[in-house]
Amino acid sequence: METLEFYQNPRFHHVRHPLIEHKLAILRDKATNNKQFAELAEEIAMLETYEATKDLPLEEVDVETPLETAKCHMVSGKAVGIVPILRAGLGMVSGVQKLIPNAKVGHIGLYRDETTHQPVEYYCKLPADAENRTLIVVDPMLATGGSASDAITMIKKRGVTKIKLCCIVSAPEGIRKILADHPDVDLYVAAVDRCLNDNCYILPGLGDAGDRIFGTK
Ligand code: PRP
Ligand code: URA
Repeated sequence: METLEFYQNPRFHHVRHPLIEHKLAILRDKATNNKQFAELAEEIAMLETYEATKDLPLEEVDVETPLETAKCHMVSGKAVGIVPILRAGLGMVSGVQKLIPNAKVGHIGLYRDETTHQPVEYYCKLPADAENRTLIVVDPMLATGGSASDAITMIKKRGVTKIKLCCIVSAPEGIRKILADHPDVDLYVAAVDRCLNDNCYILPGLGDAGDRIFGTK
């Protein structure tokens, strides 16, 4: 797997951890129910967030301990925004929020046309000060990469320059598209799968993430 060329790209981050591997195995299992699936997506998103926020800017603060004043560092209050791609991305928001509770949340509405597999846009609402924040775009699935690439383009059009994309399961096709279309964006994935099938579903994948989170099929 590491022989794939994108492993050499410093913008590409395959987040690996025994807990992520374990949770991914249950997530993929077709016997996993909607409630468990949503909980696992949240937990994996939280573990990925730890890695994706390693370079957040800090500001120095004075903290009164019971003994004296300590020079400490805190993440700047206006540092981060979370942008789920509707609908499946909603399943990752709470995981990011557990680590960054003050992050503002924007939403981008996109769905893949079932015949053409092309993304269709229907909604975009970002935090008012989005251009001053690092926006973490979340979507559990990166298949062709069309949806995430279009979402990032929509965000850039609103003046945002610091963008990270966080996905759970990805295909090489989608990874290549994001790195080519948006070489300034850091991409974090928990799994790199083999390929896409004729319907542009990820193999081995986990099926339709939105349906599995929300129980719509
Ligand atoms: C899924 C997924 C991504 C997209 C990935 O959403 O959540 O947004 O497909 O595919 P791509 O990389 O080929 O664009 P879907 O269109 O099924 O909508 P949903 O979240 O509303 O279920
Ligand atoms: N969207 C999904 O939910 N799953 C896939 O495998 C591809 C796109």
